[in-house]
Amino acid sequence: MKIALGSDHGGYSLKQSLIPFLQERDIQVADAGTNSEDSVDYPDFAERVALLVSHNEAEAGILICGTGIGISIAANKVPGIRAALVTDEFMARMAKEHNNANILVLGGRVLDEQKARVLVGAWLDASFEGGRHQGRLDKITEIENKYR
Ligand code: RB5
Repeated sequence: MKIALGSDHGGYSLKQSLIPFLQERDIQVADAGTNSEDSVDYPDFAERVALLVSHNEAEAGILICGTGIGISIAANKVPGIRAALVTDEFMARMAKEHNNANILVLGGRVLDEQKARVLVGAWLDASFEGGRHQGRLDKITEIENKYR
């Protein structure tokens, strides 16, 4: 499995800490940056990761900014992206089971490394339930198509 990973400066340190965690799970990491604590603009990294996912160059993505808010707003502008900002394990699991989130979003100034690993693990280990939830995702796609 290949995961695209991206952050701004507010998420850089957490992003770096997740790379060995993902590799230990035999996940191939496509690191889309940023590559330092220097101030950058989160929409640039949201777009890079969202495009990798929407073009099927990565099966899923993880995005991190300070709160996770801005980078999730930006990623969700790309058609086909379901980026879910999560702050606890239940949300991380639901993001996959109900929303089939193809990008998990974290706040680098919200979570410590250990908690972030728990959330990423919960999302990776969960499975989309389909059924009535697929119908709801289809409605999201209809909204995308309506305003495209
Ligand atoms: C950057 O200072 C900060 O605004 C950004 O990381 C993020 O929290 C935005 O939502």
